[in-house]
Amino acid sequence: MSNDTTLVLGATGKTGRRVVARLRLRGTPVRAASRSSRTRFDWTDPGGWDEALRGVAVAYVVAPGVPGPVHEFVARAEAAGVRRLVLLSGRGADTWGDSTFGLDMRSAEDAVRGSALEWTVLRASNFDQNFDEDVFHAPLVAGELALPADAVPEPFIDVDDVADAAAAVLTGTAGRHAGRIYELTGPRALTFGEAVELISRASGRPITYRRISPGEYAATLVEQGLSEDDAHHVAEMFVLMERGLIAATTDDLATVLGRAPRTFEDYVVRAAAAGAWRG
Ligand SMILES: NC(=O)c1ccc[n+]([C@@H]2O[C@H](COP(=O)([O-])OP(=O)(O)OC[C@H]3O[C@@H](n4cnc5c(N)ncnc54)[C@H](OP(=O)(O)O)[C@@H]3O)[C@@H](O)[C@H]2O)c1
Repeated sequence: MSNDTTLVLGATGKTGRRVVARLRLRGTPVRAASRSSRTRFDWTDPGGWDEALRGVAVAYVVAPGVPGPVHEFVARAEAAGVRRLVLLSGRGADTWGDSTFGLDMRSAEDAVRGSALEWTVLRASNFDQNFDEDVFHAPLVAGELALPADAVPEPFIDVDDVADAAAAVLTGTAGRHAGRIYELTGPRALTFGEAVELISRASGRPITYRRISPGEYAATLVEQGLSEDDAHHVAEMFVLMERGLIAATTDDLATVLGRAPRTFEDYVVRAAAAGAWRG
């Protein structure tokens, strides 16, 4: 069997499902995989990995939330004849120091960067779509987002830009993006307060932003059902962001795509028009 398929992990997630649609549109043979996809892939069950990797030339890897499994996955990919790996990572994966937060991403990066295959790492900033498809959505609909973030801005990136970049790297000519780590950001950094103000204006609803302490935030997350450990790690991410290490924008998206990133305003208008923050 010749290897011509592109395997997309996390295929039901924010980036994965957008990557799958882009590849299908351009006629690339795609295998969409996750725990709930037709091709079942579970990071906790290596028994199913070889089947998912059969006939695969290129793989888009969304790392698991724990350090470790990507090393074994990369070994299986090499054995299956995969030629290229594209890993979604997060900005700061190399700057979190000894913090426990981000160990999963660093472990995944080590596995991919240590492989004999052609590899590319996409280190993305926080996603715009966290405000309508993920953790910040429910608080915004309830009228207030409260986070341990203040004056340090974040260069939020549109997930559609991440997917465009991933599709370009997955389908690019051999060697074009080999061994590259792209730091993908939006076109400007804005504070969470500014982001919420734009969402409030576009949605026509009074929504406020309030700064709280990392301890208060961790307690809120525990109330929402997170374990003490996970809540602590998420709060810790904000402490690290407040150091300003990942606040700057980069030109890497333009390097990959030859165009500027989408603006946060563009995202807010699209999401508000789709009714994202209706009460
Ligand atoms: N959110 C951000 O701002 C941001 C920024 C930079 C980087 N990242 C990184 O992006 C990654 C998340 O990507 P995303 O936002 O595209 O996905 P997502 O929306 O968080 O969805 C997670 C995906 O992973 C699958 N999944 C969950 N547990 C799994 C398991 N045990 N085995 C196999 N698949 C599993 C889910 O599908 P099933 O439920 O069907 O399995 C789903 O497709 C994380 O590694 C995160 O660190 C996020």
